[in-house]
Amino acid sequence: MLTQDMRIFVAGHRGLVGSALVRALTARGYANLALRTHQQLDLTEQSAVRRFFEDERPQAVILAAARVGGIHANNAHPARFIRDNLLIQDNVIDSAYRAGVEKLVFLGSSCIYPKLAPQPIKEEYLLTGALEPTNEWYAVAKIAGVKMCQAFRRELGFKAISLMPTNLYGPGDNFDLQSSHVLPALLRRIHEAKMRGDASVTVWGTGTPRREFLHVDDLADAVLHLLHSYDGEPIVNVGWGKDVSIRELAELIVSVVDYKGHLLFDGSKPDGTPRKLLDVSRLAGLGWYPLVQGIESTYAWFKDHLAEARL
Ligand SMILES: NC(=O)c1ccc[n+]([C@@H]2O[C@H](COP(=O)([O-])OP(=O)(O)OC[C@H]3O[C@@H](n4cnc5c(N)ncnc54)[C@H](OP(=O)(O)O)[C@@H]3O)[C@@H](O)[C@H]2O)c1
Repeated sequence: MLTQDMRIFVAGHRGLVGSALVRALTARGYANLALRTHQQLDLTEQSAVRRFFEDERPQAVILAAARVGGIHANNAHPARFIRDNLLIQDNVIDSAYRAGVEKLVFLGSSCIYPKLAPQPIKEEYLLTGALEPTNEWYAVAKIAGVKMCQAFRRELGFKAISLMPTNLYGPGDNFDLQSSHVLPALLRRIHEAKMRGDASVTVWGTGTPRREFLHVDDLADAVLHLLHSYDGEPIVNVGWGKDVSIRELAELIVSVVDYKGHLLFDGSKPDGTPRKLLDVSRLAGLGWYPLVQGIESTYAWFKDHLAEARL
């Protein structure tokens, strides 16, 4: 259904996910993109969003705009997190439906699952237990977005799908220590400690929680694959299918940054969910695996660039 001349609205196109989506779409020849910065269009403003959809008439929408942040930001600003995310998704989904959008992709997050969900987390565990309290404001908003997509599909026949990405990282990530996620925050702090010649870096928490990470270009590839080929009510996890402990992650970053100091772990700070690994068998059943896709694109590049490839 996705044609190269299709008008596609990527909401949040300057964020980590949105910019990867624009890179992936542009690389595949999709040139008819509708893009607005936050400053040009505040998605929490209902009348402005309605007007945008009426004027621009996008045929497909990828909703990658959201108020996003780590434990600290969620804890400090519960009102902003629940308000902005509810308003953004409500305005975009409703206006897209009213304007006759053919397909919409809503991006949730792995944090919508219960804190103590069995691992790896299957899609059907949604709403089977209490949420992680440190980010429940964000999670409740995202769950409402999933339910809104499902309700609009059931009652109104709107083709909205919901994807649940795992923790993402990559170019364009947020490195602000007040609001960033664990991987970019550690990368920045360890880099700065190296630059200053600090003897140690203190990592929040015990280092034992386990997390999964997916490169954002892989996510963008999966989103386009599913935008093209999936049209169902069930949510779909998008992850790598493997996890590492925060200690292993920090040690890996120490080695990449080539930092010579020590890591200390501050167990008085909150750890968050003990383990968060997505079950990605539904995604695999829909024909997407990170390694396969990566090898496919590398092979395509290799064939096209034989003359200049390093042989
Ligand atoms: N990052 C992850 O690890 C991760 C993991 C799972 C799921 N996701 C999901 O992926 C989506 C995108 O996340 P991200 O990491 O790309 O976040 P991000 O880098 O913070 O980008 C979010 C984008 O949304 C825009 N935005 C925020 N509020 C807006 C508003 N009121 N009106 C218009 N634009 C607004 C931001 O613009 P400004 O910066 O100008 O405000 C920014 O461009 C979210 O739905 C998130 O839940 C992310």
